[in-house]
Amino acid sequence: MGFEPADVSGGPRRDVLTATDVAPDPIPVHVACVMDGNGRWAARRGLPRTEGHAAGEAALLDAVEGALDLRIPWITMYAFSTENWRRPADEVRYLMGFNESLLVRRRDELHEKGVRIRFAGRRDWRVPRRVLRRMDESTALTKHNRRCTLTMAFNYGGRAEIVDAVRKLVADGIPPNKINEKAIRSRLYFPDQPDPDLVVRTSGEHRISNFLLWQLAYSELVFDDVLWPDFRRTHLFEAVRHYQRRQRRYGGVTQ
Ligand code: IPE
Ligand code: IPE
Ligand code: MG
Repeated sequence: MGFEPADVSGGPRRDVLTATDVAPDPIPVHVACVMDGNGRWAARRGLPRTEGHAAGEAALLDAVEGALDLRIPWITMYAFSTENWRRPADEVRYLMGFNESLLVRRRDELHEKGVRIRFAGRRDWRVPRRVLRRMDESTALTKHNRRCTLTMAFNYGGRAEIVDAVRKLVADGIPPNKINEKAIRSRLYFPDQPDPDLVVRTSGEHRISNFLLWQLAYSELVFDDVLWPDFRRTHLFEAVRHYQRRQRRYGGVTQ
């Protein structure tokens, strides 16, 4: 994982990591995941790509459980990008229906666990109305939960989010000399959300793919070769352990 040498400290193997193997401090306040590798997971098994997406559901739920175990209060999951419309129509249709049915099947369980569900992304004409309805229902059901906020980035693009913020600036009549970082940030999809401390991308790809471009300015990035459907909370715990060894400087110097 990552660019660091394997853990040779005699620590537990990654498949047996539990929450108690993670130091209590610092725990990232916001972890964002690029859930990647579903298609390759399926291809390796001779299955259609859609089976990989279906298998990713267990990974998503286990990652959320792991975040709750560590008391991580904010998690964001990249589920569908503004570029994913380029995929074959069958796959796009499957992903829309799958995300809808996942919400129907899992929202009560997430609600009982105290998870607040929100969606970041464009609500444009391409997203079927019934999917938007399920999203709204899930948000309404869970809106008072405070244990953890799970943001699903759906039809989300970091550039689109910045474009939308600029449109709001103009619509609000903000003059050039009043445009600053605060003015832009307050017009992002969720201004109340802290920037991610840690981003985890699976499947061995080392790129951002238009995820949270504004918010990732100083995030720590961890890349894991595991394909998303095989991701479990132990991988999250391992990523947090990597995070805990990083030195964040924000452009300054370490004392
Ligand atoms: C991530 O897995 C899920 C989505 C982007 C919706 P992929 O479908 O990108 O899987 P690979 O990268 O092709 O293996
Ligand atoms: C990023 O994965 C988007 C999601 C995980 C939803 P992609 O598979 O779409 O990214 P690229 O195309 O490999 O950069
Ligand atoms: Mg991919």
